[in-house]
Amino acid sequence: MQALVWEERFSVGIRQFDQHHKILFEMINSLIFAKEDNSDPDVIKHTLEQLRSYTLFHFVAEEAMMKYFGFEGLDEHIAEHEVLLQHVVEYQERVAAEDGVTLDEILDFLAGWLLDHTLGLDQLYGPFLSRRTE
Ligand SMILES: [Fe+2]
Repeated sequence: MQALVWEERFSVGIRQFDQHHKILFEMINSLIFAKEDNSDPDVIKHTLEQLRSYTLFHFVAEEAMMKYFGFEGLDEHIAEHEVLLQHVVEYQERVAAEDGVTLDEILDFLAGWLLDHTLGLDQLYGPFLSRRTE
């Protein structure tokens, strides 16, 4: 799997959130590199936990701003965030249980979700919020 590269088309028009998304890209990339290095499962566990806590921080920030400005797509957006968090927790449990879950499967889901979400729902709040925060 190739490393994720942030491009301008991923921009949501709000610098703070673009910065968060770039960090999330890098976190997924570190999992890709961990795989290539065939790293210790403890490294994978640690990276997944970092990803979970940073994602939570980022989601809270996005949701708070959408709520503050009364963005009407908030509920749908929260639901999509929840899907990611539930999957990350589920993967953490599976890694801990050593049930044979592969890093490929985890990375496929994480990278797919992040690209779809950043190019999808995140693009909807961009124009709405950037008009109100500038
Ligand atoms: Fe989002």
